[in-house]
Amino acid sequence: MPSETLTITDNRTGKTYELPITHETIKATDLRQMKTDPSDFGLMPYDPSYMNTAACKSRITFIDGDKGILEYRGYPIDQLAEKASFLETAYLIWYGELPNAAQLAVWTAQYAAQPPVPEMVKRVIAAFDRKAHPMAMLISALGALSSVYPDAKKVGDPANRLSHAMRLLAQVPAISAYIYRHGQGLPMIDPDPKLSYAGNFHRMLFAKDNGPYTPDLVLEEALDILLILHADHEQNCSTSTMRLVGSSQADPYASMAAAAAALYGPLHGGANEAVLRMLEEIGSVDNIPGFITKVKAGEGRLMGFGHRVYKNYDPRAKIIKRTADQVFAVTGKNQKIDMAVLLEKIALEDEYFIKRKLYPNVDFYSGIIYQAMGFPTEMFTVLFAVGRAIGWLAQWEEMLCDGDQKIGRPRQIFLGPAKRDYVAIEQRG
Ligand code: CMC
Repeated sequence: MPSETLTITDNRTGKTYELPITHETIKATDLRQMKTDPSDFGLMPYDPSYMNTAACKSRITFIDGDKGILEYRGYPIDQLAEKASFLETAYLIWYGELPNAAQLAVWTAQYAAQPPVPEMVKRVIAAFDRKAHPMAMLISALGALSSVYPDAKKVGDPANRLSHAMRLLAQVPAISAYIYRHGQGLPMIDPDPKLSYAGNFHRMLFAKDNGPYTPDLVLEEALDILLILHADHEQNCSTSTMRLVGSSQADPYASMAAAAAALYGPLHGGANEAVLRMLEEIGSVDNIPGFITKVKAGEGRLMGFGHRVYKNYDPRAKIIKRTADQVFAVTGKNQKIDMAVLLEKIALEDEYFIKRKLYPNVDFYSGIIYQAMGFPTEMFTVLFAVGRAIGWLAQWEEMLCDGDQKIGRPRQIFLGPAKRDYVAIEQRG
Protein backbone atom coordinates (compact mmCIF):
# COMPACT_ATOMS: atom_id res chain seq x y z
CA MET A 1 0.00 0.00 0.00
CA PRO A 2 1.68 3.26 -1.09
CA SER A 3 2.00 5.89 1.59
CA GLU A 4 -0.49 8.80 1.46
CA THR A 5 2.23 11.42 1.63
CA LEU A 6 4.08 13.78 -0.66
CA THR A 7 7.84 14.19 -0.35
CA ILE A 8 9.20 17.56 -1.40
CA THR A 9 12.82 18.64 -1.56
CA ASP A 10 13.37 22.38 -1.32
CA ASN A 11 16.37 22.88 -3.59
CA ARG A 12 17.05 26.30 -2.04
CA THR A 13 18.01 24.61 1.23
CA GLY A 14 18.38 20.93 0.32
CA LYS A 15 15.83 20.07 3.03
CA THR A 16 13.24 17.35 2.44
CA TYR A 17 9.68 17.47 3.81
CA GLU A 18 6.97 14.83 3.95
CA LEU A 19 3.44 16.23 3.71
CA PRO A 20 0.30 14.17 4.42
CA ILE A 21 -2.17 13.75 1.54
CA THR A 22 -5.81 13.70 2.62
CA HIS A 23 -8.72 13.52 0.14
CA GLU A 24 -6.12 13.88 -2.63
CA THR A 25 -5.04 17.28 -1.37
CA ILE A 26 -2.15 18.68 0.61
CA LYS A 27 -2.70 21.48 3.10
CA ALA A 28 -1.42 24.80 1.76
CA THR A 29 -0.34 25.74 5.30
CA ASP A 30 1.93 22.66 5.41
CA LEU A 31 4.11 24.45 2.82
CA ARG A 32 4.80 27.27 5.28
CA GLN A 33 7.42 25.18 7.12
CA MET A 34 9.60 25.42 3.97
CA LYS A 35 11.79 28.42 4.74
CA THR A 36 15.19 29.63 3.61
CA ASP A 37 15.90 31.02 7.10
CA PRO A 38 13.91 31.40 10.35
CA SER A 39 12.72 34.92 9.45
CA ASP A 40 11.38 33.75 6.06
CA PHE A 41 7.55 33.77 5.90
CA GLY A 42 7.50 30.29 4.34
CA LEU A 43 6.38 28.91 0.98
CA MET A 44 2.91 29.71 -0.36
CA PRO A 45 0.99 28.26 -3.33
CA TYR A 46 0.14 30.82 -6.05
CA ASP A 47 -3.25 30.15 -7.63
CA PRO A 48 -4.95 33.17 -9.20
CA SER A 49 -8.60 32.44 -10.11
CA TYR A 50 -8.51 29.30 -7.93
CA MET A 51 -7.62 27.04 -10.85
CA ASN A 52 -6.52 24.22 -8.54
CA THR A 53 -7.33 25.14 -4.96
CA ALA A 54 -9.95 23.44 -2.79
CA ALA A 55 -11.23 26.21 -0.50
CA CYS A 56 -13.59 23.99 1.49
CA LYS A 57 -14.87 20.49 2.10
CA SER A 58 -18.43 20.09 0.90
CA ARG A 59 -21.07 17.36 0.89
CA ILE A 60 -23.61 19.14 -1.29
CA THR A 61 -22.82 18.95 -5.01
CA PHE A 62 -20.54 16.63 -6.94
CA ILE A 63 -19.33 17.46 -10.44
CA ASP A 64 -17.11 15.29 -12.62
CA GLY A 65 -16.27 17.74 -15.36
CA ASP A 66 -14.58 15.19 -17.61
CA LYS A 67 -17.52 12.79 -17.54
CA GLY A 68 -20.24 15.48 -17.54
CA ILE A 69 -21.69 14.32 -14.19
CA LEU A 70 -23.66 16.57 -11.81
CA GLU A 71 -25.20 15.24 -8.58
CA TYR A 72 -26.92 16.98 -5.67
CA ARG A 73 -26.23 15.02 -2.46
CA GLY A 74 -25.50 11.97 -4.63
CA TYR A 75 -28.66 12.14 -6.77
CA PRO A 76 -28.03 12.56 -10.54
CA ILE A 77 -29.37 15.86 -11.90
CA ASP A 78 -31.40 14.16 -14.65
CA GLN A 79 -33.29 12.04 -12.09
CA LEU A 80 -34.07 15.07 -9.94
CA ALA A 81 -35.14 17.14 -12.96
CA GLU A 82 -37.44 14.34 -14.12
CA LYS A 83 -38.87 13.14 -10.82
CA ALA A 84 -38.48 15.71 -8.04
CA SER A 85 -40.17 19.05 -7.44
CA PHE A 86 -38.12 22.17 -6.76
CA LEU A 87 -39.16 22.34 -3.09
CA GLU A 88 -38.23 18.67 -2.64
CA THR A 89 -34.84 19.38 -4.27
CA ALA A 90 -34.37 22.44 -2.06
CA TYR A 91 -34.99 20.28 1.03
CA LEU A 92 -32.46 17.74 -0.27
CA ILE A 93 -29.85 20.43 -0.86
CA TRP A 94 -30.38 22.01 2.56
CA TYR A 95 -30.68 18.85 4.72
CA GLY A 96 -28.76 16.28 2.67
CA GLU A 97 -31.58 13.73 2.31
CA LEU A 98 -34.78 13.57 0.29
CA PRO A 99 -37.78 14.40 2.51
CA ASN A 100 -40.47 11.87 3.36
CA ALA A 101 -44.07 13.03 2.85
CA ALA A 102 -44.37 14.49 6.39
CA GLN A 103 -41.03 16.29 6.18
CA LEU A 104 -41.93 17.78 2.80
CA ALA A 105 -45.29 18.92 4.19
CA VAL A 106 -43.56 20.73 7.08
CA TRP A 107 -40.96 22.28 4.73
CA THR A 108 -43.71 23.45 2.33
CA ALA A 109 -45.78 24.86 5.21
CA GLN A 110 -42.74 26.77 6.53
CA TYR A 111 -42.18 28.25 3.08
CA ALA A 112 -45.87 29.10 2.67
CA ALA A 113 -45.99 30.85 6.08
CA GLN A 114 -43.32 33.42 5.23
CA PRO A 115 -44.27 37.10 5.45
CA PRO A 116 -44.86 39.11 2.26
CA VAL A 117 -42.17 41.28 0.67
CA PRO A 118 -41.62 44.17 3.15
CA GLU A 119 -43.02 47.55 2.09
CA MET A 120 -39.59 49.14 2.42
CA VAL A 121 -38.13 46.67 -0.10
CA LYS A 122 -41.01 47.42 -2.48
CA ARG A 123 -40.21 51.12 -2.16
CA VAL A 124 -36.53 50.43 -2.94
CA ILE A 125 -37.53 48.62 -6.14
CA ALA A 126 -40.12 51.27 -7.04
CA ALA A 127 -37.40 53.95 -6.76
CA PHE A 128 -35.54 52.40 -9.70
CA ASP A 129 -36.11 53.58 -13.25
CA ARG A 130 -38.38 51.03 -14.96
CA LYS A 131 -35.61 50.38 -17.49
CA ALA A 132 -33.00 49.68 -14.78
CA HIS A 133 -31.38 46.27 -15.02
CA PRO A 134 -33.36 43.74 -12.92
CA MET A 135 -30.12 42.35 -11.42
CA ALA A 136 -29.24 45.82 -10.10
CA MET A 137 -32.67 45.89 -8.47
CA LEU A 138 -32.30 42.37 -7.06
CA ILE A 139 -28.91 43.12 -5.52
CA SER A 140 -30.29 46.29 -3.89
CA ALA A 141 -33.46 44.55 -2.68
CA LEU A 142 -31.44 41.76 -1.04
CA GLY A 143 -29.23 44.32 0.67
CA ALA A 144 -32.33 46.21 1.84
CA LEU A 145 -33.76 43.01 3.39
CA SER A 146 -30.75 42.96 5.70
CA SER A 147 -32.04 46.14 7.38
CA VAL A 148 -35.57 44.75 7.70
CA TYR A 149 -34.45 41.61 9.57
CA PRO A 150 -31.61 42.70 11.89
CA ASP A 151 -31.94 39.49 13.96
CA ALA A 152 -30.50 37.63 10.94
CA LYS A 153 -27.12 38.81 12.26
CA LYS A 154 -27.28 35.99 14.85
CA VAL A 155 -25.57 33.61 12.45
CA GLY A 156 -24.36 31.37 15.29
CA ASP A 157 -27.94 30.22 16.01
CA PRO A 158 -28.95 27.27 13.75
CA ALA A 159 -32.73 27.80 14.22
CA ASN A 160 -32.34 31.47 13.32
CA ARG A 161 -30.31 30.55 10.24
CA LEU A 162 -33.00 28.14 9.05
CA SER A 163 -35.72 30.71 9.64
CA HIS A 164 -33.94 33.35 7.51
CA ALA A 165 -32.97 30.81 4.85
CA MET A 166 -36.65 29.93 4.55
CA ARG A 167 -37.53 33.62 4.34
CA LEU A 168 -35.10 34.08 1.47
CA LEU A 169 -36.40 30.97 -0.27
CA ALA A 170 -39.87 32.56 -0.28
CA GLN A 171 -38.87 36.17 -0.86
CA VAL A 172 -36.34 35.81 -3.68
CA PRO A 173 -39.04 34.70 -6.19
CA ALA A 174 -41.55 37.22 -4.82
CA ILE A 175 -39.03 40.07 -5.12
CA SER A 176 -37.97 38.86 -8.57
CA ALA A 177 -41.59 38.84 -9.72
CA TYR A 178 -42.04 42.33 -8.30
CA ILE A 179 -38.93 43.50 -10.19
CA TYR A 180 -40.33 42.06 -13.43
CA ARG A 181 -43.71 43.72 -12.90
CA HIS A 182 -42.12 47.04 -11.97
CA GLY A 183 -40.25 46.92 -15.30
CA GLN A 184 -43.55 46.30 -17.09
CA GLY A 185 -45.37 49.01 -15.09
CA LEU A 186 -47.68 46.41 -13.54
CA PRO A 187 -48.87 46.14 -9.90
CA MET A 188 -47.55 43.38 -7.66
CA ILE A 189 -49.52 40.12 -7.37
CA ASP A 190 -49.99 38.37 -4.02
CA PRO A 191 -48.46 34.91 -3.68
CA ASP A 192 -50.65 31.82 -3.53
CA PRO A 193 -48.70 29.27 -1.51
CA LYS A 194 -51.24 26.56 -2.40
CA LEU A 195 -49.55 26.48 -5.80
CA SER A 196 -46.20 24.73 -6.35
CA TYR A 197 -43.05 26.84 -5.94
CA ALA A 198 -42.77 27.30 -9.72
CA GLY A 199 -46.55 27.72 -10.10
CA ASN A 200 -46.63 30.42 -7.43
CA PHE A 201 -43.69 32.18 -9.05
CA HIS A 202 -45.47 31.99 -12.41
CA ARG A 203 -48.58 33.51 -10.81
CA MET A 204 -46.65 36.39 -9.20
CA LEU A 205 -45.00 37.08 -12.56
CA PHE A 206 -47.80 36.71 -15.06
CA ALA A 207 -51.25 36.79 -13.38
CA LYS A 208 -53.52 39.65 -14.49
CA ASP A 209 -54.89 40.34 -11.00
CA ASN A 210 -55.09 38.86 -7.50
CA GLY A 211 -57.90 36.46 -8.42
CA PRO A 212 -57.44 32.70 -8.84
CA TYR A 213 -54.67 31.73 -11.25
CA THR A 214 -53.90 28.40 -12.85
CA PRO A 215 -50.47 28.32 -14.49
CA ASP A 216 -50.06 26.32 -17.67
CA LEU A 217 -48.96 22.88 -16.47
CA VAL A 218 -46.23 22.48 -19.11
CA LEU A 219 -44.73 25.91 -18.43
CA GLU A 220 -44.97 25.38 -14.65
CA GLU A 221 -43.16 22.04 -15.02
CA ALA A 222 -40.53 23.58 -17.32
CA LEU A 223 -39.89 26.42 -14.88
CA ASP A 224 -39.63 23.89 -12.04
CA ILE A 225 -37.01 21.94 -14.04
CA LEU A 226 -35.04 25.09 -14.84
CA LEU A 227 -35.02 26.05 -11.15
CA ILE A 228 -33.79 22.55 -10.20
CA LEU A 229 -31.01 22.68 -12.82
CA HIS A 230 -29.76 25.97 -11.39
CA ALA A 231 -30.15 25.06 -7.71
CA ASP A 232 -26.47 24.45 -6.95
CA HIS A 233 -23.17 24.05 -8.76
CA GLU A 234 -20.53 23.73 -6.02
CA GLN A 235 -17.78 26.34 -5.66
CA ASN A 236 -18.45 28.69 -8.58
CA CYS A 237 -17.89 32.47 -8.52
CA SER A 238 -21.18 33.46 -6.82
CA THR A 239 -21.23 30.55 -4.36
CA SER A 240 -17.66 31.24 -3.32
CA THR A 241 -18.67 34.88 -2.85
CA MET A 242 -21.57 33.83 -0.61
CA ARG A 243 -19.15 31.75 1.46
CA LEU A 244 -16.47 34.45 1.57
CA VAL A 245 -18.82 37.27 2.58
CA GLY A 246 -20.63 34.95 5.00
CA SER A 247 -17.31 34.01 6.57
CA SER A 248 -17.11 37.54 8.01
CA GLN A 249 -20.41 36.67 9.78
CA ALA A 250 -22.36 39.08 7.61
CA ASP A 251 -26.05 38.13 7.62
CA PRO A 252 -27.48 35.94 4.81
CA TYR A 253 -29.24 38.84 3.09
CA ALA A 254 -26.02 40.85 2.74
CA SER A 255 -24.11 37.70 1.78
CA MET A 256 -26.69 36.85 -0.88
CA ALA A 257 -26.63 40.40 -2.26
CA ALA A 258 -22.89 39.88 -2.82
CA ALA A 259 -23.46 36.44 -4.38
CA ALA A 260 -26.07 37.93 -6.72
CA ALA A 261 -23.59 40.64 -7.71
CA ALA A 262 -21.07 37.94 -8.63
CA LEU A 263 -23.72 36.11 -10.65
CA TYR A 264 -24.55 39.28 -12.63
CA GLY A 265 -21.33 39.15 -14.72
CA PRO A 266 -21.52 37.87 -18.32
CA LEU A 267 -18.94 35.14 -17.67
CA HIS A 268 -21.19 33.66 -14.95
CA GLY A 269 -25.00 33.92 -14.65
CA GLY A 270 -25.12 36.89 -17.01
CA ALA A 271 -24.17 34.53 -19.84
CA ASN A 272 -27.81 33.51 -20.49
CA GLU A 273 -28.60 37.12 -21.33
CA ALA A 274 -25.39 37.44 -23.36
CA VAL A 275 -26.33 34.35 -25.43
CA LEU A 276 -29.60 35.94 -26.51
CA ARG A 277 -27.88 39.21 -27.39
CA MET A 278 -25.30 37.22 -29.36
CA LEU A 279 -28.01 35.34 -31.30
CA GLU A 280 -29.72 38.66 -32.05
CA GLU A 281 -26.42 40.09 -33.25
CA ILE A 282 -25.76 37.09 -35.52
CA GLY A 283 -29.23 37.63 -36.94
CA SER A 284 -29.54 34.62 -39.28
CA VAL A 285 -28.05 31.18 -39.86
CA ASP A 286 -26.17 32.52 -42.90
CA ASN A 287 -24.05 34.70 -40.62
CA ILE A 288 -22.96 31.84 -38.31
CA PRO A 289 -19.75 30.83 -40.18
CA GLY A 290 -18.58 34.46 -40.20
CA PHE A 291 -19.35 34.78 -36.48
CA ILE A 292 -17.41 31.59 -35.67
CA THR A 293 -14.43 32.90 -37.66
CA LYS A 294 -14.45 36.09 -35.55
CA VAL A 295 -14.62 34.12 -32.28
CA LYS A 296 -11.67 31.99 -33.38
CA ALA A 297 -9.75 35.15 -34.19
CA GLY A 298 -10.25 36.26 -30.59
CA GLU A 299 -12.94 38.84 -31.41
CA GLY A 300 -15.41 37.95 -28.66
CA ARG A 301 -16.55 34.63 -27.26
CA LEU A 302 -19.19 32.12 -28.16
CA MET A 303 -21.38 32.86 -25.15
CA GLY A 304 -23.00 29.86 -23.48
CA PHE A 305 -19.98 27.74 -24.44
CA GLY A 306 -17.13 26.56 -22.25
CA HIS A 307 -16.84 25.92 -18.55
CA ARG A 308 -14.06 25.94 -15.98
CA VAL A 309 -15.03 22.47 -14.75
CA TYR A 310 -16.98 20.73 -17.54
CA LYS A 311 -14.69 19.52 -20.28
CA ASN A 312 -17.48 17.40 -21.67
CA TYR A 313 -21.13 18.24 -22.37
CA ASP A 314 -22.78 20.13 -19.46
CA PRO A 315 -25.53 17.69 -18.37
CA ARG A 316 -27.82 20.64 -17.60
CA ALA A 317 -27.65 21.84 -21.22
CA LYS A 318 -28.86 18.41 -22.43
CA ILE A 319 -31.92 18.53 -20.14
CA ILE A 320 -32.69 22.14 -21.11
CA LYS A 321 -32.53 21.29 -24.81
CA ARG A 322 -35.13 18.53 -24.24
CA THR A 323 -37.33 20.87 -22.19
CA ALA A 324 -37.30 23.46 -25.00
CA ASP A 325 -39.43 21.26 -27.27
CA GLN A 326 -42.07 20.82 -24.56
CA VAL A 327 -42.20 24.59 -23.95
CA PHE A 328 -42.39 25.40 -27.68
CA ALA A 329 -45.38 23.03 -28.01
CA VAL A 330 -47.26 25.53 -25.80
CA THR A 331 -45.66 28.87 -26.66
CA GLY A 332 -44.82 28.30 -30.33
CA LYS A 333 -41.26 27.79 -31.49
CA ASN A 334 -38.64 30.40 -30.69
CA GLN A 335 -36.91 30.68 -34.07
CA LYS A 336 -33.59 31.32 -32.32
CA ILE A 337 -33.46 27.62 -31.42
CA ASP A 338 -32.59 26.75 -35.06
CA MET A 339 -29.73 29.21 -34.99
CA ALA A 340 -28.51 27.87 -31.64
CA VAL A 341 -28.66 24.24 -32.79
CA LEU A 342 -26.68 25.04 -35.94
CA LEU A 343 -24.20 27.17 -34.01
CA GLU A 344 -23.66 24.25 -31.63
CA LYS A 345 -23.23 21.78 -34.52
CA ILE A 346 -20.69 23.96 -36.30
CA ALA A 347 -18.76 24.67 -33.10
CA LEU A 348 -18.66 21.04 -32.00
CA GLU A 349 -17.15 20.03 -35.36
CA ASP A 350 -14.56 22.82 -35.31
CA GLU A 351 -10.97 22.13 -34.29
CA TYR A 352 -10.81 25.35 -32.19
CA PHE A 353 -13.65 24.25 -29.89
CA ILE A 354 -12.69 20.54 -29.91
CA LYS A 355 -9.10 21.30 -28.89
CA ARG A 356 -10.22 23.54 -26.01
CA LYS A 357 -13.02 21.16 -24.96
CA LEU A 358 -15.66 23.85 -25.30
CA TYR A 359 -19.23 22.54 -25.12
CA PRO A 360 -22.62 24.22 -24.54
CA ASN A 361 -23.17 25.07 -20.88
CA VAL A 362 -26.41 25.63 -18.93
CA ASP A 363 -26.80 29.14 -20.34
CA PHE A 364 -26.69 28.22 -24.03
CA TYR A 365 -30.33 27.12 -24.34
CA SER A 366 -31.97 28.48 -21.16
CA GLY A 367 -32.46 32.02 -22.52
CA ILE A 368 -34.25 30.71 -25.61
CA ILE A 369 -36.80 28.98 -23.36
CA TYR A 370 -37.14 32.00 -21.07
CA GLN A 371 -37.79 34.21 -24.08
CA ALA A 372 -40.45 31.80 -25.39
CA MET A 373 -42.08 31.92 -21.94
CA GLY A 374 -42.38 35.69 -22.25
CA PHE A 375 -39.47 36.90 -20.12
CA PRO A 376 -37.54 39.97 -21.26
CA THR A 377 -33.83 39.25 -21.80
CA GLU A 378 -32.75 41.34 -18.79
CA MET A 379 -34.71 39.01 -16.47
CA PHE A 380 -32.78 35.84 -17.38
CA THR A 381 -30.05 36.19 -14.76
CA VAL A 382 -32.66 36.94 -12.10
CA LEU A 383 -34.27 33.58 -12.94
CA PHE A 384 -30.88 31.92 -12.46
CA ALA A 385 -30.68 33.60 -9.02
CA VAL A 386 -34.16 32.35 -8.02
CA GLY A 387 -33.03 28.77 -8.61
CA ARG A 388 -29.57 29.27 -7.12
CA ALA A 389 -30.75 30.89 -3.86
CA ILE A 390 -31.09 27.52 -2.09
CA GLY A 391 -27.60 26.47 -3.21
CA TRP A 392 -26.10 29.70 -1.89
CA LEU A 393 -27.95 29.20 1.40
CA ALA A 394 -26.94 25.56 1.85
CA GLN A 395 -23.30 26.37 1.08
CA TRP A 396 -23.43 29.28 3.55
CA GLU A 397 -24.90 26.98 6.20
CA GLU A 398 -22.25 24.33 5.51
CA MET A 399 -19.49 26.94 5.76
CA LEU A 400 -20.76 28.23 9.12
CA CYS A 401 -20.95 24.69 10.54
CA ASP A 402 -17.46 23.74 9.34
CA GLY A 403 -14.88 23.91 12.14
CA ASP A 404 -12.10 24.31 9.54
CA GLN A 405 -13.53 27.59 8.26
CA LYS A 406 -12.51 31.04 9.49
CA ILE A 407 -12.90 34.44 7.91
CA GLY A 408 -11.75 34.11 4.29
CA ARG A 409 -8.55 36.01 3.69
CA PRO A 410 -6.28 35.21 0.73
CA ARG A 411 -2.58 36.01 0.66
CA GLN A 412 -0.73 37.91 -2.08
CA ILE A 413 2.66 38.06 -3.70
CA PHE A 414 3.69 41.66 -3.13
CA LEU A 415 5.56 43.02 -6.15
CA GLY A 416 5.19 46.74 -5.38
CA PRO A 417 7.94 49.15 -4.36
CA ALA A 418 10.05 48.59 -1.26
CA LYS A 419 9.75 51.09 1.62
CA ARG A 420 10.55 54.67 0.58
CA ASP A 421 10.17 58.09 2.20
CA TYR A 422 7.38 60.54 1.45
CA VAL A 423 8.35 63.25 -1.06
CA ALA A 424 6.80 66.71 -0.70
CA ILE A 425 4.65 67.66 -3.74
CA GLU A 426 6.92 70.54 -4.83
CA GLN A 427 9.89 68.16 -5.01
CA ARG A 428 8.20 65.52 -7.21
CA GLY A 429 9.09 66.88 -10.62
N1 CMC B 1 -15.71 31.07 -26.83
C1 CMC B 1 -14.49 31.06 -27.45
N2 CMC B 1 -13.36 30.67 -26.84
C2 CMC B 1 -13.45 30.30 -25.56
C3 CMC B 1 -14.65 30.29 -24.86
C4 CMC B 1 -15.81 30.68 -25.54
N3 CMC B 1 -17.00 30.70 -24.94
N4 CMC B 1 -14.44 29.88 -23.59
C5 CMC B 1 -13.12 29.64 -23.50
N5 CMC B 1 -12.51 29.90 -24.69
C6 CMC B 1 -11.10 29.71 -25.02
C7 CMC B 1 -10.25 30.82 -24.43
O1 CMC B 1 -10.10 31.90 -25.32
C8 CMC B 1 -8.95 30.08 -24.17
O2 CMC B 1 -8.29 29.93 -25.39
P1 CMC B 1 -6.67 30.00 -25.46
O3 CMC B 1 -6.22 28.78 -24.69
O4 CMC B 1 -6.35 29.97 -26.90
O5 CMC B 1 -6.28 31.29 -24.78
C9 CMC B 1 -9.41 28.69 -23.73
O6 CMC B 1 -10.69 28.50 -24.37
C10 CMC B 1 -9.57 28.53 -22.22
O7 CMC B 1 -10.44 29.56 -21.77
P2 CMC B 1 -10.35 30.24 -20.35
O8 CMC B 1 -10.95 31.59 -20.43
O9 CMC B 1 -8.94 30.14 -19.83
O10 CMC B 1 -11.26 29.26 -19.49
P3 CMC B 1 -11.88 29.57 -18.08
O11 CMC B 1 -12.02 28.27 -17.40
O12 CMC B 1 -11.12 30.64 -17.39
O13 CMC B 1 -13.32 30.19 -18.44
C11 CMC B 1 -15.59 30.45 -18.90
C12 CMC B 1 -14.51 29.53 -18.34
C13 CMC B 1 -16.97 29.84 -18.63
C14 CMC B 1 -15.53 31.81 -18.19
C15 CMC B 1 -15.36 30.62 -20.43
O14 CMC B 1 -15.46 29.38 -21.07
C16 CMC B 1 -16.30 31.63 -21.04
O15 CMC B 1 -16.03 32.84 -21.05
N6 CMC B 1 -17.47 31.16 -21.61
C17 CMC B 1 -18.45 32.08 -22.13
C18 CMC B 1 -19.29 32.64 -21.01
C19 CMC B 1 -20.26 31.62 -20.46
O16 CMC B 1 -20.95 30.95 -21.20
N7 CMC B 1 -20.37 31.56 -19.13
C20 CMC B 1 -21.29 30.68 -18.43
C21 CMC B 1 -20.59 29.60 -17.67
S1 CMC B 1 -21.71 28.29 -17.16
C22 CMC B 1 -22.83 29.02 -16.09
C23 CMC B 1 -22.22 29.49 -14.85
O17 CMC B 1 -21.68 28.69 -14.07
O18 CMC B 1 -22.29 30.68 -14.61
